Amino acid sequence: MKNLHDRGVISRYRQYLPVTDATTVVSLNEGSTPLIYSPKLSKLVGRGAEVYVKYEGLNPTGSFKDRGMTMAISKAVERGAKAVICASTGNTSAAAAAYAARANLACAVLLPAGKIAAGKLLQAFIYGAKVVAIRGNFDDALRLVRELGADGRFEIVNSINPFRIEGQKTASFEIIEELGDAPDIHILPVGNAGNITAYWQGYREYHGLGKATKRPRMTGFQAAGSAPIFLGHVVDKPETVATAIRIGNPASWQGASDAVKDSGGCIDIVSDAQILEAQRWLAAEEGIFVEPASAASVAGLLKCFSNDRCAACPFHQYPEGAKIVLTVTGHGLKDPEAPMVHGFKALEADATMDAVAKVLGVSC
Ligand code: F0G
Repeated sequence: MKNLHDRGVISRYRQYLPVTDATTVVSLNEGSTPLIYSPKLSKLVGRGAEVYVKYEGLNPTGSFKDRGMTMAISKAVERGAKAVICASTGNTSAAAAAYAARANLACAVLLPAGKIAAGKLLQAFIYGAKVVAIRGNFDDALRLVRELGADGRFEIVNSINPFRIEGQKTASFEIIEELGDAPDIHILPVGNAGNITAYWQGYREYHGLGKATKRPRMTGFQAAGSAPIFLGHVVDKPETVATAIRIGNPASWQGASDAVKDSGGCIDIVSDAQILEAQRWLAAEEGIFVEPASAASVAGLLKCFSNDRCAACPFHQYPEGAKIVLTVTGHGLKDPEAPMVHGFKALEADATMDAVAKVLGVSC
């Protein structure tokens, strides 16, 4: 009988991934996320442009990490691993814990203490991982994971594991298939820089296979307080409200630099205020709720149409009818605290028609 659950990215893109018949696929039907047309962002860009939002928050654990984790965990099982480990700002740990649970592997996650969004921390616990809160930041946690993984007791499932990048590149495949070609510009948030590396790999592969006539200009946005690639040096004490990308020394720095250089894109920064405003804007104007780090894509596009864009901004020159894709990487519900800066407050009313009509400003 056909395995009805086998509809994830490995099943969809098997021939482009390093799997064999010996690989037991561990999947939660990740991938195939919606590519949502944004009329308002398209209007902002003008010149007949079409802007699409790739909503990765609709993956099974609520972020793009599931694409890479199905690969990393499937390969860990194939290699006979008993336990996996990762450092995380929250989403990798959620995905690792879920896929490890499914594969009956032990899972340990090292997280920067006090800097993980509530929903993500809950995910690691509920999926049954051993959670270690490190008195340090993500970069400290990743250093420890590298050491702990060195002797083979744990399989590392951070994006330094090449299978993670392989899985994540499938997002580019989906975009090309849906648009019929690669977009002209691709915008995404950058933290540890695995995802921009993976997308660029995916775009290059499909272009090489003749499935796309072009490759997009890869444009990454870092949070201003955690912007090592933009600044060109390690940031010892990264800070940002977008805790998912609170990283000072990205593991895939080189991959990101190559993607930007080879594609004619750029790495720029957005402030926390711009991120939070873009998050609210995308929810209120387009009905898409993403976590703060993901909103860096949208904040970035808005910045590209302000007086403040960077010298290498791809929007200095772009074709008529350009297609632009923004990856929004994680679901907004993961971090219920950050958006509360907007001071949302319910209107209060007694349980009568009159009282409700009054606070709503309508007559009954
Ligand atoms: N957006 C979200 C929601 C993320 O969780 C991350 C990374 C990124 C963007 C940046 O992607 O690291 O590939 O450049 N989160 C990692 C984690 C670091 O541990 O969950 P990247």
